Amino acid sequence: MDKFRIVGGKPLEGRISISGAKNSALPCMAAALLTPETVVLHNLPYVRDIITMRRLLEDMGCMVLMPERNTLKITAEDIQFFEAPYELVKTMRASVLALGPLVARFGQAKVSLPGGCAIGQRPIDMHLSALELLGAKIELVGGDVVASAERLKGTEITFDKVTVTGTENIMMAAVLAKGTTILNNAAREPEVVDLAKLLSRMGARIIGAGTNQIKIEGVEKLRGAEHTIIPDRIEAGTFLVAAAITNGALEITDCNPEHIGSVIDLFSSTGVKIERLSDVTLRVESGNLQAKDMITEPFPLFPTDLQAQYMALMTQAQGQAVITETIFENRFMHASEMMRMGANVQIKGNQAIIEGGKKLTGAKILASDLRASASLVLVGLAAEGETIIDRVYHIDRGYDKIEEKLQRLGGQIERFRD
Ligand code: EPZ
Repeated sequence: MDKFRIVGGKPLEGRISISGAKNSALPCMAAALLTPETVVLHNLPYVRDIITMRRLLEDMGCMVLMPERNTLKITAEDIQFFEAPYELVKTMRASVLALGPLVARFGQAKVSLPGGCAIGQRPIDMHLSALELLGAKIELVGGDVVASAERLKGTEITFDKVTVTGTENIMMAAVLAKGTTILNNAAREPEVVDLAKLLSRMGARIIGAGTNQIKIEGVEKLRGAEHTIIPDRIEAGTFLVAAAITNGALEITDCNPEHIGSVIDLFSSTGVKIERLSDVTLRVESGNLQAKDMITEPFPLFPTDLQAQYMALMTQAQGQAVITETIFENRFMHASEMMRMGANVQIKGNQAIIEGGKKLTGAKILASDLRASASLVLVGLAAEGETIIDRVYHIDRGYDKIEEKLQRLGGQIERFRD
């Protein structure tokens, strides 16, 4: 199994380009199932989850070509299997994004019901009840969700809670439904907006993506389209922390500052110096870090996917910070690893209390999920001495060659196998 060896204490300096957003790329790839014509996607990050989604589409019968490293051409003309099997769903929950498109276009789908995972229970009940409201019949057979339908019928759906992939799945189902669908309490994340843009290029009629009410006029069929995936706001936020936590200075380019407004505001209030150089470039420099509380919330507020990285930053700030995690019930696995390096973190329910300013020293630590792994790389870069991170396959799911990017900025990090 791959591991990272990090020798901390070096300020990161230089210019870094942000990759395409994994969480936008995944639903956009699933959207290709909605048409027999070719969908071309550019700026895909080269990460494990994208390879898994490609395999899922190919197993179903899609033709997937990769003319360049970050481009895929997906043609779902001849689909023979309408299934996301357990083997794939257990490695990547986003496989459930096949459900909406398959039911909408083919009237059938079988998707293994995801179990709990490292960050929480993560049920998909809201995806399923919304599909039922659109007229699908849903059964649970041997751990699989089996969905069937004649043509789906538009209706009004109100999500009990904001769900990102739930909104995406139902938006993809509704674009081919008969009549109008209204989604209330819809997710407003930039990834939802990006998917809506692709679907609109394919001929879908969608208004309101980016607000909490999305209106979709169903159409008979969709066509092929070409689309460039938005920059990864979570990767951008991770590099902001990387600069700040190592006393470094970075130019972060090919990002969209509009998508991380709440992050820039909070980081700036802690003393991190962030300057907007252009519409796609930020300059970040470390400052005198002061602890500030943070609460994770749906977009446009602070994202749960940057909670672990923010905790890393707070271990080095002066004072006490309270982090409240409202999205997932078990997303503090990184805290105990940080404590092994000298951080002072106490977990009380959905809150983490961090007494900052403690010196970190390198240790052997274990990555538990994608964003937790990123936070451990960050504390490793800030710590004195050598840190070994095990199970870095988690980070490979969502960060495009993170160790190479960090090396180019002067970070002492290498991948090895023992
Ligand atoms: C998406 O997950 C992201 N994944 C996650 O990123 C991200 O953390 C999360 O949104 C929140 O922003 C992708 O986009 C592929 P939710 P998703 O449905 O859609 C509960 C990463 O590290 N819920 O918005 O699965 C759920 O348990 C990943 O890149 C239900 O109860 O998250 C959670 O508490 C991790 N029933 C809350 O809603 C449902 O049917 C929000 O989850 C659906 C969700």
